[in-house]
Amino acid sequence: MLLEVKDLGVQYGDKAPVVKNVNLQIDRGEILAIVGESGSGKTTVIRSIMGCLPASAHIASGSICLEGTNIGAMSQSSRRNWQGTKVTMIFQDTGNTMDPIQRVGKQFCEYLQAHQPYTKKEAEARALELLSLAALPNGEDIIKKYPFELSGGQKQRVGIAMAMAFNPCLLLADEPTAALDVTTQKQVVEQLLALRDKTSMAMIIVTHNIKIAAYMSDKMLVMKKGQVIESGTTKLVMAHPQEEYTNQLIAAVPRLGGSRYVEG
Ligand SMILES: Nc1ncnc2c1ncn2[C@@H]1O[C@H](COP(=O)(O)OP(=O)(O)OP(=O)(O)O)[C@@H](O)[C@H]1O
Ligand SMILES: [Mg+2]
Repeated sequence: MLLEVKDLGVQYGDKAPVVKNVNLQIDRGEILAIVGESGSGKTTVIRSIMGCLPASAHIASGSICLEGTNIGAMSQSSRRNWQGTKVTMIFQDTGNTMDPIQRVGKQFCEYLQAHQPYTKKEAEARALELLSLAALPNGEDIIKKYPFELSGGQKQRVGIAMAMAFNPCLLLADEPTAALDVTTQKQVVEQLLALRDKTSMAMIIVTHNIKIAAYMSDKMLVMKKGQVIESGTTKLVMAHPQEEYTNQLIAAVPRLGGSRYVEG
């Protein structure tokens, strides 16, 4: 098992837990989708896995094991070893996590050099290679630009390229396509699927869009008010939802050309 989360409980400050008894498992190459309404705790769950909860939050109960090792019990150095390299995260709007006054190439190279002793030249060559892997073949132009000079889809692909830099075993994606138009959304989704096929990296994708979740994932987890109310293989959850809430999520998806959730 690549990742096993058991009875996870998370609270902000001394308030009541906002995530309660969350269990999930994910194997190499698997894609798990987490869906659920706003405020249900999806981001909190994946930030817990990434080890990047805000300072006010803490894991109140349960355990998170990566390749059999409890990350809570890991030393600082082994944690640094995998955080941001073996387990990486892409955000809803990568543009906001980039430095607006630094060229894309400089940021990319600094990130690469922070984790590996690349020379400037090597870092730049690797950045171009990764950009082309993330379907940005015109990397030479991209690296010279500032983030505001890129489109939403380009920024998101830069985020994917950076997240892929050290061949992660697990990619956590928080609403990676929410800021994109439908066509670009589809391209980013296909790109993520292609990367999974190429590298057998596992992925947890958080999305409001149950259609994207159904299209991409092998397993699905439905959250409501901090708890998992339904989980199982995506096929099973979509075909036989046990909870009324899941039914409502599925019913809200428009039918497209006779097929409910897989777009053309
Ligand atoms: N920094 C914070 N301080 C206090 N409470 C927080 C903080 N961040 C999130 N919460 C609370 O934790 C709960 C879960 O939030 P979370 O961001 O995990 O939800 P989400 O499912 O990702 O929602 P969305 O779909 O809107 O992104 C919410 O009730 C939210 O108000
Ligand atoms: Mg969120």
